[in-house]
Amino acid sequence: MSLIRLVKVTKKFGEITALDRVDLSIQDGEYICVLGQTGAGKTTLLRTIAGLTESHEGEIFIEGKLVNEFPPEKRNTVYMFQHFALFPHMNVYENVAFGPSIRNWPSSRVKVVSSEILDMVRLSERKDAFPNELSGGMQQRVALARGIASGARILLLDEPLGALDARLRVDLRRQLRRLVKEQKLTAIHVTHDQEEALMTADRIVILRKGRIEQIGTPSEIYSKPESIFVTSFVGGANFLEGPMIRVDDSSSTIETREGCQIEVAQKGGKIGEKFVVAIRLEDVFINSPITSGWNSFSGKVESATFIGGFMRYKINLGNNLAIFSEVLTSTSQNIIKEGETVTTSFHPKRCHLFPYPKAGLLKEIEAI
Ligand SMILES: Nc1ncnc2c1ncn2[C@@H]1O[C@H](COP(=O)(O)OP(=O)(O)OP(=O)(O)O)[C@@H](O)[C@H]1O
Ligand SMILES: [Mg+2]
Repeated sequence: MSLIRLVKVTKKFGEITALDRVDLSIQDGEYICVLGQTGAGKTTLLRTIAGLTESHEGEIFIEGKLVNEFPPEKRNTVYMFQHFALFPHMNVYENVAFGPSIRNWPSSRVKVVSSEILDMVRLSERKDAFPNELSGGMQQRVALARGIASGARILLLDEPLGALDARLRVDLRRQLRRLVKEQKLTAIHVTHDQEEALMTADRIVILRKGRIEQIGTPSEIYSKPESIFVTSFVGGANFLEGPMIRVDDSSSTIETREGCQIEVAQKGGKIGEKFVVAIRLEDVFINSPITSGWNSFSGKVESATFIGGFMRYKINLGNNLAIFSEVLTSTSQNIIKEGETVTTSFHPKRCHLFPYPKAGLLKEIEAI
């Protein structure tokens, strides 16, 4: 049985449909990341599960019970606000002990539980400090400890690492996942950050304009994206377009306007219909010794950009058809220079084929 189950949940704010027939099942103990652009409905999704929005359509089940009419405190969830707020007049310990203490527990129990949770987030030494005396990361951990101390088994975390610097985000997201797993909690963690989602989630939910675009494990989302939007939003890619010119049982070929024929190891649609082929930047090889059976084109390096662990090249294949390639700095013997002529190649199995979108290709990609 799923711990949380949403059936056709729709939430409107006047004219705006913030959630549009969302179906979602979450298992006990799962760490789910919800990824989507600003305005996609991420906060609304969490608030609706928590019971903090008024009236919606569809059903929400928690632990098998229909909770549509349940107030927030009866849902076994704790919602951590996008802009978390600690009680400024209480010290760290009091902030954390607040939840247990309002539950009429004996004070000895409140003390034990609160201290344990403070240990867990490694803040015991700062228990007497006030929020304004702590760094952003520490405040975030206090907020988290307070959420956990509330006793709820389901954590609804709205951009929990949003306000932190990059280094701290990386440390904390690991801790956050570890905490949830150790405590056998279930988490729904909303983020804008694809890397954060890929690194922490058991499964990722991609939300777009109130709809679920795809649900899958991080590797499914990355290696089997089901739409141009998901390919572009998670990981990014080259997108080449053109009509289908050849199809057989296991492959199909499109031809771009510039005359490049691109074979994809996937059965395509009708000859003459327009398609889009997506190729991840790291799947485009430069001057590879083996190109037989690969899509292979020569072109001129227009730009070479050093991005730490890898080099990003923009290669003009002629007639201004550009393709981008990312090559690990450590595996490229020499850095290729701007102006050099090179051979780019990518395997048909690493190409993803999509029907040409009705609204146009840029609408799907530009949305980012
Ligand atoms: N209380 C409200 N009244 C009216 N419209 C709202 C309300 N809350 C959200 N919306 C609208 O619903 C849509 C989804 O908003 P939501 O806050 O869920 O997005 P989000 O994915 O959390 O975005 P962000 O990444 O910016 O936090 C937006 O168009 C927003 O303007
Ligand atoms: Mg939000």
